[in-house]
Amino acid sequence: MRCVYKNAAEFIKKRIDIRPQVGLILGSGLGDVVENIDDPVFIDYKEIPGFPKTTVQGHKGRFVVGFCKGKKVIAAQGRFHYYEGYDMEQVVLPVRTMKVLGVELLIITNSAGGVNPDFSPGDLMVIKDHINVTGINPLRGKNMDDLGPRFPDMTYAYDPHLRCLIMNTAEEMGLKVREGVYAMMPGPSYETPAEIRMLQKLGADAVGMSTVPEVIAAVHAGLKVVGVSCITNMAAGILDKPLTHEEVIETAGRAAHNFAKLLLGFIEKL
Ligand code: HPA
Repeated sequence: MRCVYKNAAEFIKKRIDIRPQVGLILGSGLGDVVENIDDPVFIDYKEIPGFPKTTVQGHKGRFVVGFCKGKKVIAAQGRFHYYEGYDMEQVVLPVRTMKVLGVELLIITNSAGGVNPDFSPGDLMVIKDHINVTGINPLRGKNMDDLGPRFPDMTYAYDPHLRCLIMNTAEEMGLKVREGVYAMMPGPSYETPAEIRMLQKLGADAVGMSTVPEVIAAVHAGLKVVGVSCITNMAAGILDKPLTHEEVIETAGRAAHNFAKLLLGFIEKL
């Protein structure tokens, strides 16, 4: 099990001619960036030895490797969520595979509920920090010394210089982008209004069911990380209406254009 990511990377290396520098993990309905990858090579997860299959509606399950704004990139279209029943080692498999392939910077995206009442559905939020409300950690167990240290520092998990660069990019493009703290809940049920009030007190601005394990594994492996959330809905109890997965997908679809524009502008500046 522990060598799965190395075997996966070996398999992918045989299919591609480039060494990708930038990795992207694209959340539900946020895959538009892929249309801007030139000379794309598509590798379905189901072809890769040791990779699980994705199950969520709105998620593809494949890597796309190619050039984006002149940079060599690998995008993960679809991810493995903890709530689907995958264990944490499977959840972080794409990140570790990307690391072995040569990735130095990982751009992680997601859909999230707005916990900060000033936010609106459709807003984009650059993640400045996270709160792991799941109580689980992908690094639990024997440390993988060849990837990183036993006790990785998380002070600068979301690279401050790159955060500044993406915020400046947004401003230059005239895109209104928020900055905030992302809290991960395990899901798959959406939160209760009481849980959202708790997250507000803890200092969260957005809530979702992904990203945190991938960021921890990326930081552990020495990758720089940039995180961007698409606020697809106001979190439970903020508005007097129920939440649906359809609303999440629909809002992500509406925001996808600006989302892709921001990511492409940012990649161009790297
Ligand atoms: N809660 C948790 N995860 C989410 C939400 C939410 O409100 N919206 C999109 N993903």
